[in-house]
Amino acid sequence: MRVFVDCDPGIDDALALAYLAARADVELVGVGTVYGNNSVDATTENALRLMELYGRPGVPVAAGAARPLVQPPQLAESVHGDNGLGGVDVPESKARAVAESAAELLVRLARSAPGEIDVLAVGPLTNLALALALEPRLPELVGRVVVMGGAVRVPGNVTPWAEANVHNDPEAADVVLGAGFDLTLVALDVTMRTLARGPWLDELAAVAGERAAYAHRFLDFYVGWYTPVLGERACAMHDPLAAAVLLDPALMTESARVPVRVELRGEHTRGLTIADLRSNAAEDERPPVTLATGVDVDGFLGRMLDALR
Ligand code: BDR
Ligand code: CA
Repeated sequence: MRVFVDCDPGIDDALALAYLAARADVELVGVGTVYGNNSVDATTENALRLMELYGRPGVPVAAGAARPLVQPPQLAESVHGDNGLGGVDVPESKARAVAESAAELLVRLARSAPGEIDVLAVGPLTNLALALALEPRLPELVGRVVVMGGAVRVPGNVTPWAEANVHNDPEAADVVLGAGFDLTLVALDVTMRTLARGPWLDELAAVAGERAAYAHRFLDFYVGWYTPVLGERACAMHDPLAAAVLLDPALMTESARVPVRVELRGEHTRGLTIADLRSNAAEDERPPVTLATGVDVDGFLGRMLDALR
């Protein structure tokens, strides 16, 4: 399986990359980076270091957008630490980012292997929207696209209605969700049910090896932020769940085919993801996406631990 990842590492992004890199059946054809959890300079540096840490030093890393299409960026140091990785120092990589932008790299790779490359997008969707502007046929040129973003029937995590990746660039998210990709949306509806809890974290701490040790250290910071929010020692596994759904679609136990739009103008609701859940939604002119509504949480957590072993 050939995968392009667009990300803003980011602690849970780092775990998603670990999940993909651990799988021998995954060829990582490129990593695009974007502002989000930190500046694009920081997320690019982190992606380069993580690829080396995870034994994939040759994967091209392309720096993407430094800001959303319309509004200023809002970074998330409080959740992911000053360096985006919970303040954990990952050794420097000898590799440098390629000269192309993330959008240019994705378009070139997709054109070179039509239908063969799947996309995992776990940051703000700015790079994908820019790639669509460069190549409007992108939905036909890539395979499956799995996006972590949005909150359909649950509260947001930045505002009462908006999830971080969509909140960071609502215009880009709306373009991508309506573009006609074979797209699966892994929203807070399922990621907030996919918690790494105390016993799983203890099991991870007992796993030998560098990969698990780093994951544990990254999660230490993340769990520190999540604990008062969740009322227990735990954290939500947003981006790794999206990676797992891309690689192992059977982990998605329930889904709905629905058109999804992003509210762009609401006074209090900008960034809200609206899925048309009515039974006659098929009449909607917007192409449907697959909204994940149920996942095998234990199956995922087991595979995540295996990936870090
Ligand atoms: C998403 O926002 C980011 O902070 C995380 O990395 C994840 O992609 C969750 O809302
Ligand atoms: Ca992310």
